[in-house]
Amino acid sequence: MGAEQVAERFAELYGSEPEGVWAAPGRVNLIGEHTDYNDGFVMPFALPHQAIAAVSRRTDGVLRLHSADIEGGVAQLRLDDLAPQSDAHWTAYPAGVVWALREAGHEITGADVHLSSTVPTGAGLSSSAALEVVIALALNDLYDLGLKRWKLARLCQRAENVYVGAPTGIMDQTASACCEAGHALFLDTRDLSQRQIPFDLAAEGLRLLVVDTQVKHAHSGGEYGKRRAGCEKGAALLGVDALRDVPYAGLDAALARLGDEEEIVRLVRHIVTENHRVEQVVDLLTAGRARAIGPVLTEGHASLRDDFRISCPELDLVVDTALAAGAPGARMTGGGFGGSAIVLTEAADVDTHTKAIEEAFAAAGFTAPRVFEAVPSAGARRLV
Ligand code: GLA
Repeated sequence: MGAEQVAERFAELYGSEPEGVWAAPGRVNLIGEHTDYNDGFVMPFALPHQAIAAVSRRTDGVLRLHSADIEGGVAQLRLDDLAPQSDAHWTAYPAGVVWALREAGHEITGADVHLSSTVPTGAGLSSSAALEVVIALALNDLYDLGLKRWKLARLCQRAENVYVGAPTGIMDQTASACCEAGHALFLDTRDLSQRQIPFDLAAEGLRLLVVDTQVKHAHSGGEYGKRRAGCEKGAALLGVDALRDVPYAGLDAALARLGDEEEIVRLVRHIVTENHRVEQVVDLLTAGRARAIGPVLTEGHASLRDDFRISCPELDLVVDTALAAGAPGARMTGGGFGGSAIVLTEAADVDTHTKAIEEAFAAAGFTAPRVFEAVPSAGARRLV
């Protein structure tokens, strides 16, 4: 669905043209998983799949929300009634952003919103961040708030953490707000400093496939929070602010200090080695050696599977099948427990690898996966 259709539907619903139309993408994370709430490094890029929002201001303290993708009419909320964890529906994401903006002291007097998104939900591709960021950007423009992209991402994270109640990091919202076409975003989640790393796989005869296993996950569930709490315990035991502060060269010594805390040892080892893998991938891409990132991605998967323990049989099957078929690298991506995997392939092998994965899923009796090629796309922007 394009900007025009979204604007037309807005006019049908609300009886006048929208003041503008904005878009914000979903993302795939290339490397750097669960590092973002440890003040570490991540490296996502934006997908062409995006949330589009047509928005107009209101002056009467009312927020009206409608989605083309979800059954149901227009939801009408009073801004003064918005309260954390009061809403278990999709409307919590846009409403949470309005709440976070108002909480931060920005004067928002209401809005009419019509949304339509092509980001698959529950697939680990940040459909919720896309919804949050598109609303934040629209309101930033319409209310002339002058907030920088990283600040909008922070407010969206607050909406997700406090209003929705999911204890996630800052990666997804920053990716949606700040990515650039043709690049991956090297983000230091401690200070949100960023570098756009040219990421043109096609030029090197490579492709990146996203395989959505169709196994749905939810980060408000307990496992994500447990990993986060375990990492915080690890940092406390090691006497550092965050696991980011444990240098790769000092990993063995740090693990020795943790002694028989077996679970914490595994979590710490994942975070420290994963930060190192992000730096390796940045160096390889910067040196024009994209093919060589394959084994680093695969090591990342093993670490998430064995140390962080957040993979699942479907994700492992994608990775094992792709590697057996000769792919240079593959790993699960996103929060884990389902969602998507990524596969780095030679351009000529896309069809063979896709077929091998589909056949392996059928043989295992799993739901058919959805496979598509990921092209690094633009971050959030105004369309009309
Ligand atoms: C989810 C969270 C992110 C990040 C990833 C794991 O996508 O929203 O903040 O923690 O999981 O890397």
